[in-house]
Amino acid sequence: MTHGAVDEMRQAERAYADFIARYPDYAKTASLDRLRATQYRRLDEQRQVYLDYTGACLYAESQLTEHLEMLRGGVFGNPHSANPTSAAMTEHVERTRRSALKYFNASAEDYILVFAQNASAALKLVGESYPFASGGRFLLTFDNHNSVNGIREFARAKGAAIDYAPLLTPGLQFDMARLDALLEQADPARDNLFAYPAQSNFSGVRHPLDLVAKAQSKGWDVLLDAAAFVPTNRLDLAAVRPDFVSVSFYKMFGYPTGVGALLIRRPALAKLKRPWFAGGTINFASVQGRAHVLSPNEAAFEDGTLNYLSIPAVEIGLRHLEAVGVDVIAKRIRCLTGWLLEEFLALRHSNGRAMVRIYGPATTEKRGGTVTFNLYDPQGHLLDYRRVEELAGSEGISLRTGCFCNPGAGEMAEGLTEEDMQAGLALGTDANLQSFARLMRDRRHKSAGSIRASIGLVTNFADMWHFLRFIGGFRDQTRLTIGEVAFDIESCRIIRDGS
Ligand SMILES: Cc1ncc(COP(=O)(O)O)c(C=O)c1O
Repeated sequence: MTHGAVDEMRQAERAYADFIARYPDYAKTASLDRLRATQYRRLDEQRQVYLDYTGACLYAESQLTEHLEMLRGGVFGNPHSANPTSAAMTEHVERTRRSALKYFNASAEDYILVFAQNASAALKLVGESYPFASGGRFLLTFDNHNSVNGIREFARAKGAAIDYAPLLTPGLQFDMARLDALLEQADPARDNLFAYPAQSNFSGVRHPLDLVAKAQSKGWDVLLDAAAFVPTNRLDLAAVRPDFVSVSFYKMFGYPTGVGALLIRRPALAKLKRPWFAGGTINFASVQGRAHVLSPNEAAFEDGTLNYLSIPAVEIGLRHLEAVGVDVIAKRIRCLTGWLLEEFLALRHSNGRAMVRIYGPATTEKRGGTVTFNLYDPQGHLLDYRRVEELAGSEGISLRTGCFCNPGAGEMAEGLTEEDMQAGLALGTDANLQSFARLMRDRRHKSAGSIRASIGLVTNFADMWHFLRFIGGFRDQTRLTIGEVAFDIESCRIIRDGS
C-alpha cells in the first residue's frame, strides 16, 4: 500500500471513530451492514456510492430470487377469470392487496387499495375522478411533486378555486399561519381537496401528519402523497386517516417497478366519479344501449390488465422491508444525515467562506435523509451543479440534480419570484430547466436547480465519507463557476463589494 493510501485509510478510520462518538446509535443498526454484505454486495463489488434513494430504493437479491421462484413454480394467466391459471393469479394479486393494506394498517372496512402503475398514475386517478366544481376549492402546498401539481389542471377545467400555501425559508416547512388561513376558506357544503406530501422529495422535510385531521374537520378531503415518506417511515392509516394516499412501491424496496397504489378511504370513495370506463372496470356495458355499469370498489379504477406478474413481488418487497425494520432504517438515516449536515456546514474555503448552501432544515429535526444543496466558490459564485453531478458520476457517486419535479419547493428555496417564473414561461417552447437556469443566472443573478443526495436502506458511513471527500475537493475551486454575481451563504445575501 502506498503512503497516500495508508494516510487515506487512517483519515477514514479517524472520521469513523469521530462519527460513532457523535452518533452512537449508529452501532445499533449493524444489521444493515450484514444485509448490505449479503443482499446488496453488488454495491461494493462495483464500487458504487448510491445516493439517490429518493429517486428509487435498491432491491435485495432475495427479492429477485423469491419472485423468480414464484413465477417458475406456477402457471399464471390473466387474472379475474374462473379458469385455474387465472384463479391462481387472482389469488396472488388479492393476497398482495391484503398485505399492502395490512402494511399500512388500513382495515378493509376503512380503505380500499387500487393498484396503479406508479404514484403519478394513482394521483391522476384522484384528479380525474374528484368532483371539483365551481364553489369548491383545491388547496396545495408549494412543496409538492409535479404529479400532484398536475391535478390543478382537472380542478381548473371544472372551475374550482386553486390556492397554494407557501413555505417558510430557509427551513422549507409550511407557513402554518398562512396555511391555517387557507384551510378556513372551505365551504363544507362543497367538495374541497387539500393535497400535500408527508415528506418532501426536494428538502426531506417531514410535514405534520396532524394536518390531515385538522383539514378534514374544516371541510376538506385530504390527499396525502406518501411516495417519499413510506420508504423510511411507517404510515399508520388507523391513526392518520387521509382520504387518499399515493405510493410507488419501487421507492420503498426497489423492485418491482411499474406498480404503485392509491389508497382510498371509503367515505371519499363514494364521491369519486370516473370519467370513463375500460376493460376490467365495468360489471356491464352495452354498445346499443350506450351505457355501462361500473364495477364497485378498486375494480372501477384498475383500467385494463394489471401488471399482474409483478404485483406478487410487492408482497415479497413488503415482507423484506418488514424483516429489515423501518425503524432501524430510520435510525441509521438520522445518524448519517445528521453527520452529513454538520460536515456540510463546517466545510469552508481557505478564506473562511462557507462552501455548501443547504436548502431545507440544517438539523435532523422533522426531516428525512434527502439533502438538497448547491456549492459555491470562495468568492460566492455558484458552481455548475450539472458538472458536479458529472464529476460525481466519474467517481461512481450517484446524485441527482435539477428541480426533482418539485418546482414550488425549488422556487421558494432559491427565492424565485412569480415575475422570475413568468420570464421563464415567456421562453415559450424553449422553456426548460437549462434555459431557465441560464436566464436566471445571466439576467436576474439567481440560481435555479440544485444537487440532491438522498440516503436510504443500505447507505453506510463509507458511502458518506466518499461523498464528503468528493465535495471537499471543491475547496478553493473556481473552475466550475457559473454566473457573475456572488452570494454569501450564511447571510443569504448577494455580495456587492467583493469582500
Ligand atoms: C413525493 C413524490 N410524489 C410523487 C412521485 C411520483 O412518483 P412516480 O414517478 O413513481 O410516479 C415522486 C417521485 O419521485 C415523489 O417523490
